[in-house]
Amino acid sequence: MYSVAVVGLGKIGLALAAQYADKGQRVIGCDINPTVVELTNRGEVPLYSEPGLAERVASAHTAGRLSATTETQKAVAQSDVVVVIVPLVVDQSGSPDFSALDLATAAIARGLRSGALVIYETTLPMGTTRGRFGPMLEQSGLRMGVDFGLAFSPERVLVGRTFHDLRTYPKVVGGITPESTDAATRFYRTVLDAEILVMPDSETAEFVKLAETTYRDVNIALANELARFADSRGVDASAAFRAANTQPYSHLHQAGVGVGGHCIPVYPRFLLAHDKHAELGLVRRARQINDGMAKYVVDAIEEHLGTLHDKRVLVLGLAYRPGQKEASFSSALLLLDVLRTRGARTFLHDPLFSETEIAGYGVEPAFLESPPPVHAVIVQTGHPEYLDLDWSRFQGLCVVVDGRNVLDAAAVKHAGAAYMGIGTGTGPRR
Ligand SMILES: NC(=O)c1ccc[n+]([C@@H]2O[C@H](COP(=O)([O-])OP(=O)(O)OC[C@H]3O[C@@H](n4cnc5c(N)ncnc54)[C@H](O)[C@@H]3O)[C@@H](O)[C@H]2O)c1
Repeated sequence: MYSVAVVGLGKIGLALAAQYADKGQRVIGCDINPTVVELTNRGEVPLYSEPGLAERVASAHTAGRLSATTETQKAVAQSDVVVVIVPLVVDQSGSPDFSALDLATAAIARGLRSGALVIYETTLPMGTTRGRFGPMLEQSGLRMGVDFGLAFSPERVLVGRTFHDLRTYPKVVGGITPESTDAATRFYRTVLDAEILVMPDSETAEFVKLAETTYRDVNIALANELARFADSRGVDASAAFRAANTQPYSHLHQAGVGVGGHCIPVYPRFLLAHDKHAELGLVRRARQINDGMAKYVVDAIEEHLGTLHDKRVLVLGLAYRPGQKEASFSSALLLLDVLRTRGARTFLHDPLFSETEIAGYGVEPAFLESPPPVHAVIVQTGHPEYLDLDWSRFQGLCVVVDGRNVLDAAAVKHAGAAYMGIGTGTGPRR
């Protein structure tokens, strides 16, 4: 049996702690937030609900295998394995702010014992595990790769299906030495059912997550570029993509009004930050295309209305994906910015966010029960609440942009408004 410290009991960390405890390990979760620590020590979970989490936390707590503390140093001093899943915060330009991870690493260094293994799971720029955190951990007086093991293993799960993904997604592991890789592989074999994919080193393991998220960003950018081209020709790109993807080598993603969330628009920037010789032109261009979709959509509305000055525009959906209360890097924010610069009066609705939360983004909250009179609506998130809206209730509505291609175009037209999808052949023709 391992004694494991999981540092960072957030959406992912608590699930990992519960998973390891469920597999028979003795786990101490560490977090700077006393509320999450208290809840865990009572066998309870915070409000966000991950399917299967509450049951696992309760049973691990009852079995005495899961506890939590705010004192990371003390927990690490009792642990053979330390798994770090504290977020790497990024600013709006995508530049990483290491302060939370540095603080966690310094606490780990103070408690680190000889023979322990430290694994970072937070997505990191290439070289960070060995180059930044290794030396910080050596402040303990122990040598990395000699007195303690150090590895990187990207966390690839999706919130909302964490336990499913932990069971099925291969676990990528790479250490700073072969011995560290072996130690991490042995640990994961005891706590996961998934296949373990051994990488040559920690840098390659770090690169895996950056490559898989960048692939998706570039793929979506291709879909967006093709969709704009199709719009200008009156051709339905969505229908063409569906047909193209029946060929097994074609995996075109869906076009849309933009790419949000803390992963896909962010991790390509970790690569670009180290692209001193401008070798990553395609990656850079993909970011521009995806962020440029907000302007594309606003241009289309402006063209339709003649001007946006003093026009009232409602954005439906702040969340970056349906059903997930998460606004990081949401395309809604880009849309609101562009709309404001054109002089439009902006409104925002999202069923997952309160009126106060929406107002915090400097925009007027709207209510579906009594929608404000608006000239245009942009569906930014494909929330189920938006699929069957009665568009005749939106007074003065001239145009609806279906930013996720989820609406019934006929229902919009029936209400007397124009419908524009993205690459549905109904978008702007230029
Ligand atoms: N959320 C996702 O969908 C997802 C998916 C895959 C991978 N990841 C990876 O997991 C990381 C964490 O994501 P999350 O969604 O769990 O974050 P989160 O914001 O839900 O939780 C982070 C937790 O870390 C704690 N924390 C902050 N600083 C700390 C410190 N110094 N010591 C101890 N605890 C500290 C916070 O209090 C919080 O409870 C991400 O940065 C990403 O790399 C996230």
